[in-house]
Amino acid sequence: MSNAVRSMFAVVTRRDPSARGPDATALLSALPVPVVLLDRDNRFRFANQAAEQFLGLSTSQLTAMRLDDLVPGDNPIFQLISTVRAAEVTISDHDMSIESPRLRKYGITVQASPLPEEPGSVVLVLQDASAARTLDRQLTFRSAARSVSGMAAILAHEVKNPLSGIRGAAQLLEASVSDADRELTVLIRDEADRIRDLVDRMEVFGEKPIERGAVNIHRVLEHVRRLAQSGFAAHIGVRELYDPSLPAVFGNRDQLVQVILNLVKNAAESITSSDAATHGEIVLSTGFQHGVRLAVPGSDQRMHLPLVVSVRDNGPGIPADIMPNLFDPFVTSKCSGSGLGLALVAKIVADHGGLIEVDSRPGRTEFRLLLPMLPDDPDDVV
Ligand SMILES: Nc1ncnc2c1ncn2[C@@H]1O[C@H](COP(=O)(O)OP(=O)(O)OP(=O)(O)O)[C@@H](O)[C@H]1O
Ligand SMILES: [Mg+2]
Repeated sequence: MSNAVRSMFAVVTRRDPSARGPDATALLSALPVPVVLLDRDNRFRFANQAAEQFLGLSTSQLTAMRLDDLVPGDNPIFQLISTVRAAEVTISDHDMSIESPRLRKYGITVQASPLPEEPGSVVLVLQDASAARTLDRQLTFRSAARSVSGMAAILAHEVKNPLSGIRGAAQLLEASVSDADRELTVLIRDEADRIRDLVDRMEVFGEKPIERGAVNIHRVLEHVRRLAQSGFAAHIGVRELYDPSLPAVFGNRDQLVQVILNLVKNAAESITSSDAATHGEIVLSTGFQHGVRLAVPGSDQRMHLPLVVSVRDNGPGIPADIMPNLFDPFVTSKCSGSGLGLALVAKIVADHGGLIEVDSRPGRTEFRLLLPMLPDDPDDVV
């Protein structure tokens, strides 16, 4: 990447009118990766579109600025740049932060290369490492969900039929047995219902195509909030921070209800499980994120995922030992949990072509869903 970008810059900066081939500026602009060129005084000479979005400034604003105007002088990025100038080599640094009153980016990878044609100039390629990590994790979630789908089909087929026979027989017996024995028949019926519910939940893992349309995500959130507050989250405050201008999600309403419900239920359960000393709160929020377009792993779709739905709680956080397998089925830290909630969330979000991001530390756990918007012409989306 770095060599390719560097030679494109060579073309941009040389501006040889006789040069043939694609317009290098256009090529750089089309790159989804933020790329900037700094001159020997750290003044911005060029920024592609992705960089404009990444830095939140237009090219004309940037070219009137120096890097020092954007980040404080003690940021390690300056050290990186001067090493590149002095040694004339390409250096990458991972997990860097760029933090200033106007810019806050954590966990980015910065690749700095010298540009021999323009002594002192440095090309910076900035990459948000969290996006790469998310994609990586998403792949794992998908395979986890897949491994359950075959089992789900077998269970649904082989367990449900005999189960309804057992339940029916227990119900018939109920009418004719003594009170003492009735307790046992009720037990059989209740336990059969529990197995049926479990199998029903597993069935959703099947590989059926989903029906999708325009879904008002605020109505979905509102519905789940009401369900939660009239039941399992009756004593927990729920705050809503919605962006009212948000367009419709391209999705399946019932499945999205299930996703949000599972996330809110987990949030409520984590708050309830913690010391009641802290004031438990769940925050539901929505927003619009510009410029995220991702190739969905395992398909040739290129989805635009600009809608962000977040479920946040101030509970004790996700136990560190289950974090690496959080979205795998049957992973749970609860005595009565089945560990299917998040596996189902991952499966549904993946079916929607969306992504999930998780951030958790004591006192703040956030699940962020990135979802596709309703396309102008829904037939364009497979
Ligand atoms: N908001 C959260 N705060 C803290 N831990 C969480 C949170 N959400 C999920 N977890 C952890 O992730 C585990 C898996 O969650 P998941 O929803 O898949 O299963 P479960 O809630 O245990 O059972 P089920 O949802 O099937 O009833 C939970 O047991 C819990 O340890
Ligand atoms: Mg759960």
